[in-house]
Amino acid sequence: MSRRILVTSALPYANGAIHLGHLVEYIQTDIWVRFQRMQGHEVHYVCADDTHGTPVMLRADAEGITPERLIERVWREHKRDFDGFGVGFDNYYSTNSPENRALCEAIYGALTAQDLIAVRSVEQFYDPVKAMFLPDRYIKGECPKCGAKDQYGDSCEVCGATYAPTELKNPYSTVSGAKPERRQSEHYFFKLSDPRCEAFLREFTQTSGTLQPEAANKMKEWLGEPGDSKLSDWDISRDAPYFGFAIPGTDGKKFFYVWLDAPVGYFGSFTHHVRSKNLDEKLLQDFLRPGGDTELVHFIGKDILYFHALFWPAMLKHAGFRTPTRIYAHGFLTVNGEKMSKSRGTFITAESYIRQGLNPEWLRYYYAAKLGPTMEDIDLNLEDFVARVNSDLVGKYVNIASRAATFLTKHFDGRLSSSQMLSKIDPVAVGERAEASKTIAEAYDAREYGKALREIMRIADGINQYVDLKKPWVLAKDEPQRDLLQAICSKCIFDFKMLSVFLAPVLPATARKVAQEFFGLERDFIWSDYNVYPEKINPYSHLTNRIDPKQIEALVAANRESLKPAAAAPHSQQRHAQHQENAVKAATQPETISIDDFTKIDLRVARIANAEHVEGADKLLKLTLDVGSLGTKQVFAGIKSAYDPEQLKGRLTVMVANLAPRKMKFGMSEGMVLAASGEAPGLYILSPDSGAQPGMRIK
Ligand code: 2FM
Ligand code: ZN
Repeated sequence: MSRRILVTSALPYANGAIHLGHLVEYIQTDIWVRFQRMQGHEVHYVCADDTHGTPVMLRADAEGITPERLIERVWREHKRDFDGFGVGFDNYYSTNSPENRALCEAIYGALTAQDLIAVRSVEQFYDPVKAMFLPDRYIKGECPKCGAKDQYGDSCEVCGATYAPTELKNPYSTVSGAKPERRQSEHYFFKLSDPRCEAFLREFTQTSGTLQPEAANKMKEWLGEPGDSKLSDWDISRDAPYFGFAIPGTDGKKFFYVWLDAPVGYFGSFTHHVRSKNLDEKLLQDFLRPGGDTELVHFIGKDILYFHALFWPAMLKHAGFRTPTRIYAHGFLTVNGEKMSKSRGTFITAESYIRQGLNPEWLRYYYAAKLGPTMEDIDLNLEDFVARVNSDLVGKYVNIASRAATFLTKHFDGRLSSSQMLSKIDPVAVGERAEASKTIAEAYDAREYGKALREIMRIADGINQYVDLKKPWVLAKDEPQRDLLQAICSKCIFDFKMLSVFLAPVLPATARKVAQEFFGLERDFIWSDYNVYPEKINPYSHLTNRIDPKQIEALVAANRESLKPAAAAPHSQQRHAQHQENAVKAATQPETISIDDFTKIDLRVARIANAEHVEGADKLLKLTLDVGSLGTKQVFAGIKSAYDPEQLKGRLTVMVANLAPRKMKFGMSEGMVLAASGEAPGLYILSPDSGAQPGMRIK
């Protein structure tokens, strides 16, 4: 029976780059979507940038641009990265859209009518300089337990203590540095503690198949015992200034919290998909309203289960929308067994991977080989990545075609033997092919991609052994054996076609090339092609390379933090990784250097004589620095995200003057300008006090 499925991946935040951690989810979802389509099901795969909230607002502010401009730029970067990795959304949209606003207002209106919205006063940190309420993560101070400076409001990275932000000593705003005040303000709450929500969520989270077993158990814990629910009301509003949608009836003073409008963005994107392509409006009813036979399937990371399994369905249910059919959560990515790390160069961006000339399908293959249906973390072991791709894709899969095709092309003009001839020699009987198809299809559907690929490679091993046994290169020298040679090679090519079909969800570009160029089809493979015997092939042309370990070394080097001044996004996993990393650093780094070490660095006051954009560079500005007696120096600085070159001209700043000159793509860089950055958005170059002159030494 044909299924009708609306599939989503979590919406990435619009304030940072897509990295290999994100890609686990998009690749996992994309494989599932492609597989379902190959089965003939109707699938709509939508996503969008998650654009609202304080971080985007502050980052745009720091860059001196509007949030709208920032999110437009990031949207293009994200889209480029997803396209690069073959993630085939039907629609990639933005939460900052008219469709999303209308849906948020409709949902909010319906919840209000249901008496599920409450207004209550909340005390929060307020930055008197920025004149805004601040999320806790923008507050730092001294640890109430050990006194360590610059600790976040939830836990101390030095002694490990946990506490409330109000307990920090000498708190300060990381945005302005000001001492935050505590202020009261009215907030809007979605009444999750209402018995109607509780009853619905108990049923929803425990309905078999909606959540993975471990997720369902977690929800049980979160929900508590019946009659003793642990659910508390959810704060869905934020005070102006805030980048988001104003809550109707609040005179632009209150905005929907980003986590309210983000999941609604799934529906916003789907609505745009339907309307912008003039699809049947009825799809909106079928997929977004209850009662139909359609499915809504969300792929997410385990860190955002709470939002997707509680808030989102409760909101939908009581606003008259359909609820999710399945929520599939995956684990985090580790690289070489550890959290991704900027200093180790394992915090790898999607863009850098593509730029290094690595084939995106290698990563798709490797992730697929590691992915299963659980929330377990998956590890990208870089050595294993090289070994696995080279051995499986090149050594096993591609090898079959390159071995067999040459003989067919050379001696038979690309024609395969008749299928009758083949049945005489084919040891993979019809039944076995069907059996393999069934096992592999079931594995894909259950998101057991690792299992599917093991099965595919087991078959590939069998075919390669068959070639070794039959030695076509020997038969080719023996004229009377020509029919046998053709039959053996035909069998291999038929099997290669089957493997290509089975691999198509994982390797869409390779499979397309095989289908269209090698087998001359005018379309992509569908699943049933696995058992359609080809009559003819075109000459074999190269399908994929081996990975050279040097490419991986270069990738890691390109991602080492020291080369990349601009701060990236606080994606939740990334935030976590950064926290962990800081904790480890605090515990292991030597605390002192000698004065001799310090004096080795020649720090100078410099005047920015000129600053300009660099054609083709996303992050760099070209600075001409007047360093007094040291003359002028040209420096490429990664500060484009934070400064307009015009603002910089004439300013004094601080540079490292004795850094070995470095040849960059755009020219020589003869030093380094110092800039401060932290976890909060923004990048700040230094300025000396007035009176300092270019060339003065800083000691
Ligand atoms: O955690 C995140 O990266 C969020 N931007 C995910 C949002 S998913 C959905 F709810 F929009
Ligand atoms: Zn402490």
